[in-house]
Amino acid sequence: MTGTIKLGDLTVNRIGLGTNRLTNTDENQRFLQEAVGLGINFIDTAYRYQAGASESTIGEALAPYDGVVIATKGGWDNDRPEQLRGFLEESLQRLQTRCVPLYQLHRVNPDVPIEDSVGELQKFRAEGRIRYIGLSEVTVEQIKRAQAVAPIASVQNEYNVAVRKHDDVVDYCTEQGIAFIPWYPLGGLSGGTAAVESIVADLADKYEATPQQIALAWLLKRSPMMLPIPGTLSLDHLKSNQGAGRINLSDEDYKDLKETS
Ligand SMILES: NC(=O)c1ccc[n+]([C@@H]2O[C@H](COP(=O)([O-])OP(=O)(O)OC[C@H]3O[C@@H](n4cnc5c(N)ncnc54)[C@H](OP(=O)(O)O)[C@@H]3O)[C@@H](O)[C@H]2O)c1
Repeated sequence: MTGTIKLGDLTVNRIGLGTNRLTNTDENQRFLQEAVGLGINFIDTAYRYQAGASESTIGEALAPYDGVVIATKGGWDNDRPEQLRGFLEESLQRLQTRCVPLYQLHRVNPDVPIEDSVGELQKFRAEGRIRYIGLSEVTVEQIKRAQAVAPIASVQNEYNVAVRKHDDVVDYCTEQGIAFIPWYPLGGLSGGTAAVESIVADLADKYEATPQQIALAWLLKRSPMMLPIPGTLSLDHLKSNQGAGRINLSDEDYKDLKETS
């Protein structure tokens, strides 16, 4: 089994679902309901995804969310802290809820101190509009500055078998008990480096798995705080992604991949 991870006092299964391509169709609503039936209980979305359709599909399919933790995001790189309240209100409406379990600052505005944006999110927490605060695409220094203002429950940065520029952030999150949510978790399996692709292909043969499962199993072994959210609109792919939790890479195989770029 994939196991679980703590997000504040919430417990979720360690393979979640990313929904940046989700549009509001009956088929996609059924897909979400079936995904939950298969054990998905952590779903990542954002104010920006499909101009709000990702959130509204989730709201129509799953509200009132029996045991399913929804993580959304607001605030892009030009947005000001005072705009966050409006984004949150729209997200709450589309998600058909009064409180978002995890609200992530999607991007840090380079012209605004991160303390100001996180301070705004802390107000939403105090009002009971969001339960936990997360960050996205941040450095260790930015996380530390944010932590001085409010508890940080999660960090979502690009990370996969081939893109390891945030290794220091993964290590810091592990040490701090912050969930690390790698976006583009299946990246690097084609069109990346030949060395990584070749090791992944060999491991897929060895473990009788798909390359995607090897990539996810490697992430799960990278840190106990790792919470991948592979994005899919296919139930077969979703089941296969969940199956990655059953693959126990040996320390040597894990290291081979870790040391290859
Ligand atoms: N914080 C940020 O700035 C940020 C940026 C980008 C994404 N995200 C979040 O991260 C999530 C994941 O990232 P992502 O969707 O960009 O990349 P990803 O999860 O690495 O890859 C998604 C792609 O892989 C395919 N796929 C999924 N499972 C598969 C499987 N078992 N076998 C073969 N193909 C498979 C999907 O197509 P099918 O539909 O055919 O399965 C889709 O084309 C997003 O959905 C979004 O929620 C966040």
